[in-house]
Amino acid sequence: MKKTAIIYLSKTGFTKKYAQWTAEESGADIIPFSEAKKRRDKILTEYDSVVFGSRLIGGTINGLSKAKKLFYTGKIPFAVFVTGATPIDAQDTAPTLKKMWEQNFTPAELDSIPHFYMQSGLSYENMPFIEKQMMNAFKSMLKKKKGAEGISEGMAEVLGSSFDNSDKKFAAPLIQWIKG
Ligand SMILES: Cc1cc2nc3c(=O)[nH]c(=O)nc-3n(C[C@H](O)[C@H](O)[C@H](O)COP(=O)(O)O)c2cc1C
Repeated sequence: MKKTAIIYLSKTGFTKKYAQWTAEESGADIIPFSEAKKRRDKILTEYDSVVFGSRLIGGTINGLSKAKKLFYTGKIPFAVFVTGATPIDAQDTAPTLKKMWEQNFTPAELDSIPHFYMQSGLSYENMPFIEKQMMNAFKSMLKKKKGAEGISEGMAEVLGSSFDNSDKKFAAPLIQWIKG
């Protein structure tokens, strides 16, 4: 049976939860990014594919550059999933996400790296102090100027407090990809 490593970076728990759901359904192994960085060579020989899961911070996929350098080697398939507070059903979500993919990947990478968005939420309780401050800065910026770079109006509306829109169903396309 083919083996997949799901390498994840998670601060407030949403990405970890999606990594766990995906692993349960697909039989993949999950490895925190901090550990995976140290075991890179072993991972590339022990596994048949690697998935990198992370979170959106100001439209950027946290840790992606490093993950690409380490695991997007051309030797084994590499896929990416990203969690974000942007609700998938808001009117301007599709163009916001399109822009986000284009900012994080080159056109060639977008063709060769399967990529998945999973709606999550916000957890102020688990957010590092510095990130709470960043959220406050975002909020006041959005009050002054609607539609800031990489932030949809859908997200601007939900920034106020903690919420959880995550659902197993958003992991289904990635589970399908892993099962091949
Ligand atoms: C400082 C900060 C910036 C964020 N920027 C975005 C963003 O640009 N787009 C988005 O959809 N979500 C954004 N989020 C929400 C996170 O991406 C979301 O909560 C994510 O699932 C957190 O993952 P984790 O729980 O695995 O750490 C932001 C959150 C923080 C704290």
